[in-house]
Amino acid sequence: MKFEDIKGFAFDLDGVIADSARLHSKAWHQTADTVGTTWTPELAENLKGVSRMDSLEMILKAGGHENEYTQAQKEELATAKNTQYLELVKTLTPDDVLPGMKAFLDELKANGYKMSVASASKNAPTILKQLKVMDYFEGIVDPAKLHAGKPDPEIFSLAADVLGLAPANVAGLEDSGAGIQSINAAGELSIGIGSELSEAAVRFDRTDEVSLAAIKAKLA
Ligand code: G6P
Ligand code: MG
Repeated sequence: MKFEDIKGFAFDLDGVIADSARLHSKAWHQTADTVGTTWTPELAENLKGVSRMDSLEMILKAGGHENEYTQAQKEELATAKNTQYLELVKTLTPDDVLPGMKAFLDELKANGYKMSVASASKNAPTILKQLKVMDYFEGIVDPAKLHAGKPDPEIFSLAADVLGLAPANVAGLEDSGAGIQSINAAGELSIGIGSELSEAAVRFDRTDEVSLAAIKAKLA
């Protein structure tokens, strides 16, 4: 995609705008301890971008515990994780917008780009309000309405619809491999933040490296 084709940006939330990926990890680590799955950096990385119930299934499977819980027990485990996560979320303030992202949102707004949120998190509205960045966005895709989560393209396709733009005019920002696959499959420009994201069309190591000029330079 050419830089000039970009008319709007679809943002993942956790690990892209909000410094909340570490809070999800902290809460899931506790779940892993509860069910007896060893917590590893690899498991933590693979959970990024994955929905709540799918994350639980991955944690159970990683320890070989996938057949030990009824559906009702799984729902209890997921609810307990979310309760703990929301306790941690209460500590978030506008200072927990990741480095450089407030400046990037301001730059996009000043240059007339439209923005939407494509997060698998049902807690996205709560977090956006707490970080005081809700007003930048035309809308948020409701993950409860998805037929399939990331890496399926649905969420990023809907994020383009929210912007009223064709996928070919949208760039998506992600910190997860599943998210980058979703953006690519939706036919949008994938911008990855993280050293592991080899499938991203454009890649940065850290959020504070992201700017319109830097994206333009990488696409040239
Ligand atoms: C994001 C995060 C995941 C999280 C998922 C669901 O994609 O990267 O770590 O599991 O959202 O979040 P929720 O707040 O709905 O449990
Ligand atoms: Mg993320």
